[in-house]
Amino acid sequence: MYQNFGSESEGRERDPSWSGYYKDNGTHYLLYGKPEDIAPTPNFGNISSNPFINALEAQESFPTRIVNGKRIPCTEAPFQGSLHYEGYFVCGCVIINKIWILTAHHCFFGPPEKYTVRVGSDQQRRGGQLRHVKKIVALAAYNDYTMRHDLAMMKLKSPVYFGKCVRPVKLPSTKTTKFPKKFVVSGWGITSANAQNVQRYLRRVQIDYIKRSKCQKMYKKAGLKIYKDMICASRTNKDSCSGDSGGPLTSRGVLYGIVSWGIGCANKNYPGVYVNCKRYVPWIKKVIHKY
Ligand code: ARG
Repeated sequence: MYQNFGSESEGRERDPSWSGYYKDNGTHYLLYGKPEDIAPTPNFGNISSNPFINALEAQESFPTRIVNGKRIPCTEAPFQGSLHYEGYFVCGCVIINKIWILTAHHCFFGPPEKYTVRVGSDQQRRGGQLRHVKKIVALAAYNDYTMRHDLAMMKLKSPVYFGKCVRPVKLPSTKTTKFPKKFVVSGWGITSANAQNVQRYLRRVQIDYIKRSKCQKMYKKAGLKIYKDMICASRTNKDSCSGDSGGPLTSRGVLYGIVSWGIGCANKNYPGVYVNCKRYVPWIKKVIHKY
């Protein structure tokens, strides 16, 4: 059941050893382990409740900074939401419709009832509409070593109300083969290596599409593969960063990517890597239909 691309599993059904403890192996891979393998306990006072984000932040050898972006009002990314675990900010997310949001699989590390989603606010912790999560349907084929299939859908307990700051994102056509040249990415992620916290106000930055062949070459040095279900984007000194995961990479309101991973942030040798949403549109539609 876990091998098949396109099959899905719900949060509750997961292996209990897989429950919210992340470890960074020193490059950027996420390793999941049993709690006892991964001491110490997460530091809730620091960046977020996501120990992985904290671990990444601690790697000062990488320049980590939504890096060099600017603050935006909620109207400029009305499909953006923030994802919280036990009340702590963990990731960005994207509004698909009134009851479904899309995020990165690696933001999903605990049971649905511990998650809340805030939409319609440029503030991470205030305003807009807050909803509890009822169900999580994640791509079972997600692989924490290759980072493939890094997507999860979360169903809200009650629908959000659409308004000028709350709108569904447009899904890309599965037919188009060309990507836009430019994208915007937004989130509350950290803006500098020595940042003490994720951002209180929503930010966004413009970045450029990087061809897969080029991105592939760049990551080859690190022994990493860029699959067709990933897309790369970067621009000098500009990038998404820790805490932006799960958030939208868009062009004209169309969702092309979900923030997933990268080596460092705004690292000239390594572009940001996003889930290539186009490839998952059928899965997204199936989940909406089925659950
Ligand atoms: N994995 C990070 C997160 O959990 C996102 C990293 C994106 N990195 C990048 N260089 N664009 O928030």
